[in-house]
Amino acid sequence: MENTFLSLALLIISHFSLSTSSTDQSALLALKDNVIYDPQNVLTTNWSVSTSVCNWFGVSCRSRHRRVTALNLTGLGFVGTLPPHLGNLSFLSLLYLTNNSFYGRLPIQLSNLQSLKYLSFGNNSFSGEIPSWLGSLTELRRLFLYQNNFNSSIPLSLGYLPKLEILSLYENQISGSIPSSIFNISSLQRIEVSNNMLLGSIPFISRALLSLQVIDFTFNNLTGHIPKDMFDHLPNLKQLDLSYNLLSGTIPASLFKCKQLQILSLSVNQLEGSLPIEIGNLSMLQSFYIGRNHFEGEIPKEIGNLTFLNIFDCGINNFTGE
Ligand SMILES: *[C@@H]1O[C@H](CO)[C@@H](O)[C@H](O)[C@H]1NC(C)=O
Ligand SMILES: *[C@@H]1O[C@H](CO)[C@@H](O)[C@H](O)[C@H]1NC(C)=O
Ligand SMILES: *[C@@H]1O[C@H](CO)[C@@H](O)[C@H](O)[C@H]1NC(C)=O
Ligand SMILES: *[C@@H]1O[C@H](CO)[C@@H](O)[C@H](O)[C@H]1NC(C)=O
Ligand SMILES: *[C@@H]1O[C@H](CO)[C@@H](O)[C@H](O)[C@H]1NC(C)=O
Ligand SMILES: *[C@@H]1O[C@H](CO)[C@@H](O)[C@H](O)[C@H]1NC(C)=O
Ligand SMILES: *[C@@H]1O[C@H](CO)[C@@H](O)[C@H](O)[C@H]1NC(C)=O
Ligand SMILES: *[C@@H]1O[C@H](CO)[C@@H](O)[C@H](O)[C@H]1NC(C)=O
Ligand SMILES: *[C@@H]1O[C@H](CO)[C@@H](O)[C@H](O)[C@H]1NC(C)=O
Ligand SMILES: *[C@@H]1O[C@H](CO)[C@@H](O)[C@H](O)[C@H]1NC(C)=O
Ligand SMILES: *[C@@H]1O[C@H](CO)[C@@H](O)[C@H](O)[C@H]1NC(C)=O
Repeated sequence: MENTFLSLALLIISHFSLSTSSTDQSALLALKDNVIYDPQNVLTTNWSVSTSVCNWFGVSCRSRHRRVTALNLTGLGFVGTLPPHLGNLSFLSLLYLTNNSFYGRLPIQLSNLQSLKYLSFGNNSFSGEIPSWLGSLTELRRLFLYQNNFNSSIPLSLGYLPKLEILSLYENQISGSIPSSIFNISSLQRIEVSNNMLLGSIPFISRALLSLQVIDFTFNNLTGHIPKDMFDHLPNLKQLDLSYNLLSGTIPASLFKCKQLQILSLSVNQLEGSLPIEIGNLSMLQSFYIGRNHFEGEIPKEIGNLTFLNIFDCGINNFTGE
C-alpha cells in the first residue's frame, strides 16, 4: 500500500517535471522554427529532440528541475523573429541574443519571464517601440537593446526596475525626452543612450546614485542647461559624455564634486562662460573634450595639476591668453 502510494507519487512527480520541461522544449522548438537563416547549422545539427534541451547548444538548465535557466545564442548570425512561446520559459534568468539579425517586434509574452535578470537583444534588427512591459520584469539587472531600430520614446516604466544596473539603448531611433524616472533607480551603474533622436532637457537627479559610473548621452538633440545640482549626489561618476547635443549655459559647479571623473566630454554644444579653476580638482581626469562651444576667458593653469590627463581638446572656442 505504502509502496503503491510512493510509486504513484513518483509517477506524478516525474510526469510533472516531464511536462514542464517539455514546455521548455516546445518553446525552443518554436524558436528553431522561426529562425530562417542559421549559417553554421547550429540548430539543425545540434537542437535535436533525441537529446534533452539541457544538452542543446546555448541552453543551460538548473540541475535539480531540469528547467531552462539561460539561453545564450550570441553571435550565431541567426535571422528570424521571436515566437511568443519564448514567454513559456518560466525559469529563464538570462536571455542573450546579441549579434544576430533577429527582426520584428518583441512579443508581449516575454513579459511572463519574471525571473529574467540579464536580457540582451543588442546588435539585431528589432523595430517598433521599446515595450513598456519591460518595466514589469522587476528582477532585471542588465538591459541591452543597443544597435537596433527601436523608434519609440523611452518608457517611463523602466524607471520602476528596482535592481537595474545597466541600461544600454545606444544606436537606435529613440525619440522623446529622457524620463526622469530613470534617475530614480538607485542601483544604476551605466546609462547609455547615445546616437538616438532624444529631445528635451537632461532630467533632474533627485536622489543619491552612489553606483552610477557612466552617463552617455552623446549624439542626440538635448537642449537646455545642464541642471545646476546634477552632480550633487554622484560621487562615483567616472564618465560623462554629453557631446554632440544642443546644450547651453555654463558648466555647473557641482560637477567638481565628481572626484572620480576620468572622461569628461562636452564638445559640440552651445556651452558658454569660463572654465572654472576647480577643473584642477578632478585629479583622475584622463580625457577632457570641450571643443566647439562658446567658452571664453583664460584656460586655468590648474589644468596642469592633472597628472593623468592625456587628451585635452578645447578647439573652436573663444579662449584668450596663453
Ligand atoms: C550540442 O552542443 C553542445 C554544446 O556545444 C555539445 O555539448 C553537444 O554534444 C552537441 N550535441 C550534438 C548532438 O551535436
Ligand atoms: C554567451 O556566449 C558567448 C559566445 O559563445 C560568450 O562569449 C559569452 O561569454 C556567453 N555569455 C554568457 C553570460 O554566458
Ligand atoms: C506556450 O506559449 C504559446 C504561445 O504564447 C501557447 O500557445 C502555448 O499553449 C503555451 N504553452 C505550452 C505548454 O506550450
Ligand atoms: C559582437 O560582435 C562584435 C564584433 O565582432 C564584438 O566586438 C562584440 O564583442 C560582440 N558582442 C558580444 C556581446 O559578444
Ligand atoms: C553585429 O553582429 C554582427 C554579426 O551578426 C557582426 O558581424 C557585427 O560586427 C556586429 N556589429 C557590431 C557593431 O558589433
Ligand atoms: C516606428 O516604426 C514603425 C515601423 O516599424 C512605424 O509604424 C511607427 O510609426 C514608428 N513610430 C515612430 C514614433 O516613429
Ligand atoms: C521615484 O521613486 C519614489 C519612490 O521611491 C516615487 O515616490 C517617485 O514618484 C519616483 N519619481 C519618479 C520621477 O519616478
Ligand atoms: C537634431 O535636429 C536636427 C534639426 O531638427 C536634425 O537635422 C538632426 O538630424 C537631429 N539630430 C539627431 C541626432 O537627432
Ligand atoms: C579644490 O581644491 C582646492 C585646493 O585643494 C580646495 O581649496 C577647494 O575646496 C576644492 N574645490 C572643490 C569644489 O572641491
Ligand atoms: C567668439 O566671440 C565672437 C565675438 O563675440 C563671436 O562673434 C563668435 O561667434 C564667438 N565664437 C565662438 C566659437 O563662440
Ligand atoms: C594646482 O595648481 C596651482 C597652480 O599651478 C598650484 O598653485 C596648486 O598648488 C596646485 N594644487 C594642487 C592640489 O596640486
